Parts: sequence; C-alpha cells; structure tokens
Amino acid sequence: MKTINTMSIELKEHVPTVGDTLTIIQPDDWHVHLRDGAALEAVVADTARHYARAIVMPNLQPPVTTVAHAIQYREAILKAAEKAGVAKGSFEPLMTLYLTNNTSADEIVRVSETPGVQAVKLYPAGATTHSEAGVTDILKYCRVTLDMMQKKGVPLLVHGEVTDPEIDIFDREAVFIDRVMIPLRADFPELKVVFEHITTRDGAHYVRDSQGPIAATITPQHLLYNRNAIFKGGIRPHWYCLPILKRELHRQALVEAATSTSPRFFLGTDSAPHAKGQKEAACGCAGCYNALHAMSLYASAFEQAGQLNRLEAFASTRGPDFYGLPRNTKQMTLKRQNYVVPQYLPFIEGDTLVPLAAGETLTWMVAE
Ligand code: DOR
Ligand code: ZN
Repeated sequence: MKTINTMSIELKEHVPTVGDTLTIIQPDDWHVHLRDGAALEAVVADTARHYARAIVMPNLQPPVTTVAHAIQYREAILKAAEKAGVAKGSFEPLMTLYLTNNTSADEIVRVSETPGVQAVKLYPAGATTHSEAGVTDILKYCRVTLDMMQKKGVPLLVHGEVTDPEIDIFDREAVFIDRVMIPLRADFPELKVVFEHITTRDGAHYVRDSQGPIAATITPQHLLYNRNAIFKGGIRPHWYCLPILKRELHRQALVEAATSTSPRFFLGTDSAPHAKGQKEAACGCAGCYNALHAMSLYASAFEQAGQLNRLEAFASTRGPDFYGLPRNTKQMTLKRQNYVVPQYLPFIEGDTLVPLAAGETLTWMVAE
C-alpha cells in the first residue's frame, strides 16, 4: 500500500541562503511529457539532467492504459536516457496510467503493487492532446476504480478542465471545480488528488482551502506569463498550451500559491514537446517545451516575487512529501548568469523543437 501523507501537517521547510548562487535539494518534475520513439530520445536528457525523478504522462498513441504498457514505456525511457548519455541510475521515471471508462479495479491493484508505477491520470475526453480515449463521465463510469484507488492510496492526477463546448475556454478550469472536482472529492474524500497544472485563482484557492489529501502542480509558463503572451505582436503558438494561459489576476494568484508556505503547491513543468511544424500550423498543437530551462524560468518567477528562498520547498520537498517518497539527497546549484534560450533544438528527423521563450535572456542558470 502506498502511504498517505495527510496535508494537515505543515512540514518544516529548510530555507537556503540566496546570493549569486542558490543551492537546493535536487528537484523532481511532477508532471512531464516525454513522448516515445525519436522524440523521446531527443528530449529525455533535458529532464534527466536536472530532475532526479519525473512523473511521466501517459498520453501516448495508443495511451498507456495498463501496468504492462507502463513498464514497457519505463524501460524505453531508461534506454533512451542511457543512449542520450544520462548516467545509469541518475534518473527515475515514475509512470502513470491513462484512466479510461474501462480501467478495472484489478489494474489499480497492479499499480499499487508495482514499484515505479505511481499514479493514474484523468484526461476528460477531448480536453487536450491525445485525450480522445479519456473519460467521458468519471462519476458515472469510474466509481469502482476510484474506490480501489482510494483504498490502495493510488493518487489521481487530474487534468481539470470541462470539455463542454458551451463553456468558454478561459472558464473551463473554474467550471471543472464545481462540476467534477467538488462532487468527486465529496464521494472519495480520502482519494489522493493532484490538480495538475492549475492556471486560475479559482484553482489555487480551491486547493489552498480544501480539506484532505489534495495538492497542485504549477508550470513555469503559468507563473511567468498571462494570456497576453499568446498574442504579443502577433499570434505566438509557442505560448499556447492547455490549460491556456489566463488573465494577470490568475497569474498573480498562482505566484502567491507557489511562493506561499502551503505544502500543497509544487513543481510540475508540463513540458510538452511538439515539432515546430506541428505548432506553427493552421491548427497548432497545445504544449510548451520547457524541460531544458524550467529551473531558470521558475527561479525568475520566484525572484520577481521576492521569494527565491521558497524555491527549494516548491521544487524539491513538497512533491516527494505529498507522494510519500523520500526527498532527494543530491543538490542542485543555480547561479545568477545570463542565459539565452536557444531558438530551436534538434528533435525528430526533418523538424526541430522550439523551446518556450526562445531567444529570450533569462537571468538564472543551473550550474552544470
Ligand atoms: O498543452 C498541453 N500539452 N496540455 C496537455 O494537457 C497535454 C500536452 C501534450 O501532451 O502536448
Ligand atoms: Zn500535461
């Protein structure tokens, strides 16, 4: 059984000293898309270089719906990492299953018994990239599965947006809280839930003020940019992800949450690589690639808020504490140094990958 760490206890946070360098416990990425095949080989080292562990999203095609598939995918990730020069044993992928209307309780038992398979991800059908196989009505089709997850301590990771086309894209998270999250948590109060990549004040306040085992991840793009970034000087597809960037008031609420002392908010980059041609298209894919420089972006956001000394808690301690995993023992040093984000990176054959904020100068770098 996986341990449940109730969120009523505020764990003591170590405050690192901040000058021109900042040394923190090595971080983990609690939400990343690594893809498969050539794309996986191209991106895996960017994540493995900085993070000791990463929660790997299961939205491949076909999606990772079984433990057997998750184990296979895990091996492919480790193999790709080794091929990309990552030292053996230095990076641990934590796998997730893609919840469907048909995920069985037996599959959940297998998750709970399989080391390295950590959680189950809810994609409401049609909410985002490769979510077609997702759940159409969680409270109708998944009750037995959720019951077993609650019993076995298997966390539910939630893409929290309704898919009702009548709901404005900027309101989908807030409506999800009312229509799905509140009833779901009322029926399964001990279910461990991570509200992934929250983007609104509604999401931040809901998680902050909830009772029971709930936490949220926050991406660097939602901490640094509001929705104006998508339209600055023209339409900028590399700032388009789902949930979409929101108004400034929401960005500010996310910064407040991330830099607060609440143990409920932690790092999840949602780094989601798509080839340049797939982004710069008539109907471009959602996703920002930030695995390369997310730590620099987070450091900027925390520094702008005057809270750089809270970065360690956000990046390195609250995540493992929530998941009931040990904190990392290695450290990471960030240094104050200008770093120009590359215009593009090598990716799959015939196309490149444009990182978030390409060409911009960041002021913090990971000391390699
Ligand atoms: O922007 C996004 N990209 N949001 C998601 O939820 C999925 C992701 C992807 O897989 O590309
Ligand atoms: Zn994601």
